[in-house]
Amino acid sequence: MKADVMPRCLRKAARWVACVGMFAAAVVAGPVALANTLEEVRQAEALLPDDAALRERYLRSCVICHTSMEAGAPLTGSIEQWRPRLTKGMDTLVKHAMQGLRAMPPKGLCADCSEADMQALIKFMSQGKEKNR
Ligand code: HEC
Repeated sequence: MKADVMPRCLRKAARWVACVGMFAAAVVAGPVALANTLEEVRQAEALLPDDAALRERYLRSCVICHTSMEAGAPLTGSIEQWRPRLTKGMDTLVKHAMQGLRAMPPKGLCADCSEADMQALIKFMSQGKEKNR
């Protein structure tokens, strides 16, 4: 009798461990599953700043990662991906853009970008246009 109870209890424990393990794996795999779709990337690629000087800076730096399938950067024009970033406040975003943040390199590799450029670029990328804000 007792021999029966133990395995059942162990099986329950094993199932619990498997369940927690699967949940942990899903959390770890989350960012990979969230990779951008081709459609989203095409939308991002179709957007360019109106201002010629800003467009030139954008095309030379930000565009490489912020229209990428896998870079992990919030996509240009994706309101959804930018919303949680914008809640940090524009000052923080400009600071992070200037100093870098994890895989985001300092100044986004745009050596001649000023803080004002960064702010204009962030406004453009977070809504697909640099005006109306
Ligand atoms: C080499 C790739 C790369 C380039 C080039 C790049 N970025 Fe990024 N950017 C990233 C990545 C990756 C993230 C996400 C960082 C994170 O949250 O881990 C990011 C995030 C950001 C954020 C959000 C920061 C925050 O606090 O959430 C801003 C703002 C930003 N980039 C602005 C820019 C601007 C402006 C340019 C062009 C001047 C640029 N980036 C160029 C890779 C890049």
